[in-house]
Order: sequence, then C-alpha cells, then structure tokens
Amino acid sequence: MKILVAANQKGGVGKTAALVHLAFNFVERGLKVAVIDLDTQGNASYTLADYRGDALASAMFAENSPEWLQNTPPETGLLLIASDPGLANLERLSLENARARFQTNIEVLRETQFDVCLIDTAPSMGIGLMSALYVSDYVFSPIELEAYSVQGLTKLLTTISHVRKHTPGMPPNPKLHFLGMLPSKVDSRKPRQVRNLAELKAAYPDLLIPFSIGFRDGIAEALASGVPVWHIKTTAAREAAKETRAVADYIFKKMELSE
Ligand SMILES: Nc1ncnc2c1ncn2[C@@H]1O[C@H](COP(=O)(O)OP(=O)(O)O)[C@@H](O)[C@H]1O
Ligand SMILES: [Mg+2]
Repeated sequence: MKILVAANQKGGVGKTAALVHLAFNFVERGLKVAVIDLDTQGNASYTLADYRGDALASAMFAENSPEWLQNTPPETGLLLIASDPGLANLERLSLENARARFQTNIEVLRETQFDVCLIDTAPSMGIGLMSALYVSDYVFSPIELEAYSVQGLTKLLTTISHVRKHTPGMPPNPKLHFLGMLPSKVDSRKPRQVRNLAELKAAYPDLLIPFSIGFRDGIAEALASGVPVWHIKTTAAREAAKETRAVADYIFKKMELSE
C-alpha cells in the first residue's frame, strides 16, 4: 500500500479537490483506495459521503485498533475514513504518541489489501499533518498562483526535510518523497497568474508538477455533487476532466502504481 498526503498549511488552495479526484481516478483503474480525511472541516468526507461506513479518522489515532480496520476493501473499491469531531483531540497527543498509533493502524490497513491510501489534511501544521508526513511515501502540495502562495511552502519543505532525517524522539521517514507543487484554480485570463506560473517554473523547475488545474466551475460542482468532474457534462467540466486526468496520470506514474 502506497501512501500519499496532500499538504499545504494554506486553506482553499485545492487540496481536497485534487485528492478526491485522485481517489476517483485510481478507483476507476481498479485500485483499492482508502481516503483518510484528517481535516475537521470534513470536505473530502462530504464529497465522498457515498463511500462512508463506520470508519472514522480519529480512530486511526486510537491506542486499540478499531474493528472496522480489519475489514477488506468494500465492493466499490473506495473506503472513506471520515473526518469526525474526535480529530479535535489530536492536538492533545504528543507527536511521538500520535505518530506511533497512526503508524500501527496504517499497518493494519495495509494488511487488509488496500493498494493506495490518500490522506487529506487540515490547513495547519498540526499533529494530524505531521503524523501523516511521518507515515507517508509521497506528499504533494496544491497551490494557488497568487501572492504569498509559496511562502508557507518553504516551511513545509523544511519540515519534510526534518521528517526525512533523524530528529530527537522521532524515527525518521527517509522514504518521504515530495512530488511537487500542483498549480490549482489557475485562471489563465488573469495575467498576474500566468506571470506567477512562469516565474514559479523558472525559480523551482524541480518542485513544480508539470500540469495544472484551471479555475473551473465544474470542479466545484463535482465536489458538491459527490462525483468526479468527468461526470459533469459541461464544456468547462470537460476541460477540467482532461486536466485532472493528466495530473492523476502523472501522480500514478510517480507513485509507481500499476493497474
Ligand atoms: N479547480 C477549481 N476550480 C474552481 N473551484 C475550485 C477548484 N478547486 C477547488 N475549488 C473550490 O475552491 C474551494 C477550495 O477548494 P478545496 O479543494 O476545498 O481547497 P483546500 O482543500 O485546499 O482547502 C472549494 O469551494 C472548491 O469547490
Ligand atoms: Mg480541504
């Protein structure tokens, strides 16, 4: 089971939009996908409500593994481990403790034959996001092309390099691999955004995913309707479908997944 986390301490940048579409795309390829929603806002849980069972995200941090964790993947191929109010208590755990419990429960999930685990996170560098970085194989960061968009990312990149190395009390996670920043909600009619994208490409050629997702109504509509954007039949949605598919293809290959 390969694990990917969407991370950016900034909210509203398209983390959930990207993650949910990766989930739909990977399931269509026949993979067994678990989505863990670590954001108390529960946006991914809302969009993936059809895949909701007993599984609650806070239980991934419980000392005793919950029973549902032993279940094999559902028929649909997609399991939502939903955001729940218990996530608010995460901040009371030490990072050491939270990481250890999360790791143990992730290993149980691995044994139940999921191919991929996708973790959506809250827009803050809290215990949930930190624990996710410690157990993940890959991390990617949706960004907007506005001012300040990469400022928080410098901190995230520093954090990733700490997670990869040895820090007191924490086992390092050297396998964590940064897949890159994903320009999202890109409005190509705004010269400022086009300029920002060009500047980012020049400044961070290796840190930018070579695809982007445009600002398109179809995405918001899809997220609200609980379906992938390729099920929405408008011209703008068709463009968005192409873009999300290209991103999913890219990430699928980078994660070395196979159908
Ligand atoms: N490509 C897009 N085009 C238009 N609206 C989008 C796009 N991506 C996300 N949105 C909308 O923007 C808001 C924030 O997106 P979301 O994915 O929830 O961001 P995050 O998870 O980073 O907070 C949501 O209301 C969502 O519907
Ligand atoms: Mg979100």
